[in-house]
Amino acid sequence: MKTAVDLIEAKKRGETASREELRAFFGGYMEGKVADYQMSAWLMAVCLKGLEPSETLALTECIIESGTSRPKENFGKPVVDKHSTGGVGDKPTIVLLPLLASMGALVPTLAGRGLGHTGGTVDKLEAIPGLRQMFSWEEGQKLLGENGAAFMTQSDEVARLDKRLYALRDVTGTVDSVGLITSSILGKKLSESLDGLVLDVKYGSGAFMRTYEDAEKLALSLFQVATSFGVRTEVILTDMNEPLGEWAGNGVEVMEAVKMLRGEKTEERFYNVTMSLAEAMCRLAFPHDGRDLKAELEHKIKSGEAYERFLKIISAQGASAETVAKLDEILAPAEHRLVLKSGESGYLKEIDTFALGKLLISLGAGRRVLTDPIDHKPGLRFVKRIGERVEKGEPIMEIYSSRPLGAEDVPGIFVLGNDPPDLGEYIRPLKPQAANFKE
Ligand code: URA
Repeated sequence: MKTAVDLIEAKKRGETASREELRAFFGGYMEGKVADYQMSAWLMAVCLKGLEPSETLALTECIIESGTSRPKENFGKPVVDKHSTGGVGDKPTIVLLPLLASMGALVPTLAGRGLGHTGGTVDKLEAIPGLRQMFSWEEGQKLLGENGAAFMTQSDEVARLDKRLYALRDVTGTVDSVGLITSSILGKKLSESLDGLVLDVKYGSGAFMRTYEDAEKLALSLFQVATSFGVRTEVILTDMNEPLGEWAGNGVEVMEAVKMLRGEKTEERFYNVTMSLAEAMCRLAFPHDGRDLKAELEHKIKSGEAYERFLKIISAQGASAETVAKLDEILAPAEHRLVLKSGESGYLKEIDTFALGKLLISLGAGRRVLTDPIDHKPGLRFVKRIGERVEKGEPIMEIYSSRPLGAEDVPGIFVLGNDPPDLGEYIRPLKPQAANFKE
């Protein structure tokens, strides 16, 4: 039997551990027989040498088994979810849950909080007073049975190993490994007992994967592991070189999602990315039905059914009738507005989307440390998008903050050029190629 030190040494040499060895190692860690410092050393060796797909699979399995999974009572519906690797202004989940539930799917999402410079669905939805998001599976099943979807977050009973590993990775510089990210994401998502999963892997200046090539590696790894668990999976890579939608923040993003659910006009990229994800989820949920899914999805929005479902879901989770009646007022941006104007004329060529995420944190919309409270009011409104012409003195962005701000508080974020930039596709389905993918 190999010891923890044997496994660390082996990974340091780039060797592959067997499923049994990894199960004993992680089992020992959960029982307190493997120390945090040994696990940290192994995680660092993994960051430097990578994980083989078989190892990623074994770790995912250990994460799922370390907690409880959603009971398989599906109320006669196909069970689907989506996961995004995160970005700035990334709000489709808020639309997708009620929309897919109104289509007849069951959507048991476990969403997360903001991570690094990116926002999280749980923080955004907390802008709705009284909304509860932490439920046991037993309570969650009741909500799912009533409304087909629930906005939930990971409780202590789910993926316990990931909670411990993630906390270690966060403070030991060992987050950025394709294998570790894959097992962490899927360990949680597959605990939802899914039939189908859509993965939205972001690339660009506002994503964790800055290049398309790195995002594609993560996308392939996620696809391979999820399908190995027998879950129908689609992966879509989407551009995060600029924020998604017109708004970024917390309450303001919920408002933008609400507008889309009400059938009001919203920013084109946000609408198209959300509808592409919705269609992919429907393809997985209703694979042989021959339905015109796009038309049905559009109808669910136009008819008001998707919005009605949203209101039912949030009411079941604690939003009062008064809150529902005053939703627009509650989700309105903070009172102080600073209009950022262009100092020159040209075409908007680049946006430092990472810096926008940091700016939101500095406004109180995100956390610097785990215990920071979140201000749900601040927001950024993007007036110009990449590729658009901007004249000197024209507004590029509006900043809404809870305290007065000056232009000197805003770092350089926008780059203008003389010619319009080449705009590539911003939604790219993954074409799974390499069967023997290694990170
Ligand atoms: N999100 C997760 O849940 N885990 C990671 O490792 C990275 C992003």
